[in-house]
Amino acid sequence: MNVLVIGSGGREHALCRAIGASPLCDRLRCAPGNGGIARDAECVALDIMDFAALAARCRDMGVDFVVVGPEAPLAAGIVDSLEAAGVACFGPTAAAARLESSKAFAKELCRRIGVPTAGFARFDDFDAAREHLRRVGAPVVVKASGLAAGKGVTVARSLAEAEAALAAMEAGAFGAAGSEVVIEEFLEGEEASVFALVDGATALPLAGAQDHKTAGEGDTGPNTGGMGAYSPAPAVDDAMLERAMDEIVRPTVAAMAAEGAPFRGVLYAGLMIGADGPRLLEFNVRFGDPECQVLVARLKSDLLPALMAARDGELAHFDLRWSDRAALCVVMAAKGYPGAYEKGGEIGGLDEAEADDSVAVFHAGTERRDGRVVAAGGRVLGVTATGRDVAEAKAAAYRAVDRIDWPGGFCRRDIGWRALARGG
Ligand code: AMP
Ligand code: GLY
Repeated sequence: MNVLVIGSGGREHALCRAIGASPLCDRLRCAPGNGGIARDAECVALDIMDFAALAARCRDMGVDFVVVGPEAPLAAGIVDSLEAAGVACFGPTAAAARLESSKAFAKELCRRIGVPTAGFARFDDFDAAREHLRRVGAPVVVKASGLAAGKGVTVARSLAEAEAALAAMEAGAFGAAGSEVVIEEFLEGEEASVFALVDGATALPLAGAQDHKTAGEGDTGPNTGGMGAYSPAPAVDDAMLERAMDEIVRPTVAAMAAEGAPFRGVLYAGLMIGADGPRLLEFNVRFGDPECQVLVARLKSDLLPALMAARDGELAHFDLRWSDRAALCVVMAAKGYPGAYEKGGEIGGLDEAEADDSVAVFHAGTERRDGRVVAAGGRVLGVTATGRDVAEAKAAAYRAVDRIDWPGGFCRRDIGWRALARGG
């Protein structure tokens, strides 16, 4: 089978590693890929938002199956276009991707079917939004409804902060994504994520994971795409996973099918787990990054037939096996990220870091130049290790980090602290 993975981050590198290991995979390409993916797949320079050209190239290259990593092409209808052109594709249609691309859509759906989530109101009139803020007061959460690369959310401790977030949105800080605003009740608890493969009707849970979203240690500082992750997540034991599936994921899957927009792909539910159980923070319609890296590190089953079964509506009798070992991923980012950062610095020590069998270094933003690996993005590497527990995986991951020679990079040194605090 001839497979094409769409995307260029650490998530896609992990997907390529897993798919390339499948005996079903004869040829693996990635568009556009990166300097690390180039070792696992043939990278093809394609515009992943030009779906007509992409469909034509897929036919030329004899691609049998496309796996889409990131949300932007999903929200824009890559799966609709490729499937219409006869190319089988893993991922949701644009209509199903609204679970992520429109927070207003997702929240309305939750309200209608009783999925536990923060109370909310949505506005396209900013004066009405301001009035609402004054009525509810702080703490409160202000969100751009559309896709804003994880940056459209302000958890406001004061009314002034909430009003400033609203004003920034009104001034166009998030472009069209901020033309509609969702104002939410502030939830307390511990955050965790659950992932499920979905085939339109059946949802098959993957392992739970937790990530660290902020740039600074102790979960402080600006939000990022994710600075590290680990699995299993102590906050998501089997009972909690079942509750999240029963109360959140399965009702959503059923409702999307009933709406005529059946969801196929991977559904990622970001949860806040409080005293009264899991509540939905947000849906994403793709694997998390870097959560995907730790899931792949723990998956014992062949990923490719599972992705194909999701696309073909055949998950009902599917089972996935997971390693009992824990996995932990430390993201190395360019100094300055998530603000301005430099590109082009050379990265050494990668082979030494991967010499340990329990370690995989997934590339998120690198290029190869004359045989050297150089930094080419904000998040650059995802150093991933397994161990008997989170503590052992963490020690192995940081040993590998310390073998990497990249003066222009930094990482958080406390990935996994919540799990370790619980004795995980
Ligand atoms: P989101 O992109 O909607 O998941 O929001 C990004 C981050 O903001 C989440 O990971 C939470 O840390 C925080 N957040 C979002 N919504 C809420 C809420 N209703 N209450 C408390 N924190 C929230
Ligand atoms: N790690 C968070 C995300 O992928 O959205």
